Amino acid sequence: MRCQKTQLFVLFIALVNIFLFNTTISAQTSVNKTEIINGTDLTDTQGNIINAHGGGFLKVGKYYYWIGENRRKGVFVSCYRSTDLINWEFRGDLLTRQSHKELDKANIERPKVIYNERTRQFVMWMHYEYGPDYSYARAAIATSSDIEKPFSYLRSFRPFNNMSRDCNLYKDEDGIAYFYSSARENYDMIIYKLSDDYLDTKEQIATLWPGGHREAPALVKRGNYYFLLTSGCTGWAPNQAKYAYSKSIKGPWSELKLIGNSTTFDSQSTYILPVEGDKTTSYLYVGDRWDGKQYFNSKYIFLPLTFQSDSTMELRWVEKIRLSVKTGEIN
Ligand code: DGJ
Repeated sequence: MRCQKTQLFVLFIALVNIFLFNTTISAQTSVNKTEIINGTDLTDTQGNIINAHGGGFLKVGKYYYWIGENRRKGVFVSCYRSTDLINWEFRGDLLTRQSHKELDKANIERPKVIYNERTRQFVMWMHYEYGPDYSYARAAIATSSDIEKPFSYLRSFRPFNNMSRDCNLYKDEDGIAYFYSSARENYDMIIYKLSDDYLDTKEQIATLWPGGHREAPALVKRGNYYFLLTSGCTGWAPNQAKYAYSKSIKGPWSELKLIGNSTTFDSQSTYILPVEGDKTTSYLYVGDRWDGKQYFNSKYIFLPLTFQSDSTMELRWVEKIRLSVKTGEIN
């Protein structure tokens, strides 16, 4: 009996040691990083793998927020924040299967968040599917007054009765916001102007490249030009991205121009992130290197987008990204 007690005590001490040792390991992983290594598992400040695919970014005060698809244990959308775009702290889950009854069998992709100054609400738009296939093809909306707190799911719908799959949001300098998504079985890319509260589509302002089969859209404005980057439609497999430019978001848009290499460096676009510093503004391409079979094995790709003229954009491969949010420089 006494011997058994001693054994139990030894086992207890061993477990305490294992716990302390693991804590040390995870503390070590939270050491400040200085770069993002492309195509590797990115971990947050706790040492856990970042789950924010098909995501977007938003600056609030001193923090950059990264919000994207999680897909683990009934979680749809997760939120991370960073002051340097390299070290990301997990801040919570914004949308889960439990958030609303319409989400019980849903599949949520490519969530994006913008802030509405008038209503003081953060507004999330996303691609909504119900069930295993992609036939619902709807947009969905959720809101929150706190970017780090769970969002309230509002509804899903087809904007102007159009199918709506891969999507994104763009908030212009004048506060007018746009939702744009792949429509008509991905044949067309449609841009919609949003209502003042950002909770509805108000006007269908452009139907781009009818029959062009584009998805994964990401829009940015630089100088006098808007740039719209898209991929072709090859499921989870990568293909070569193309971009177009225009002086007005309504168009006319240029024809599509090839960018990057034949697989966009084995990735698909999700966002173009301007890094505005006191020296310069740089632009980061953010893409997903999908693993469609083992979704959690998907990786992130951050690359510099550079401009050779006012309307010419280039994407090149780099192993690592180092940047300064203070100066805006990327190297
Ligand atoms: C490519 C899209 O861009 C992804 O978001 C996802 O919908 C996959 N297709 C599904 O095959």
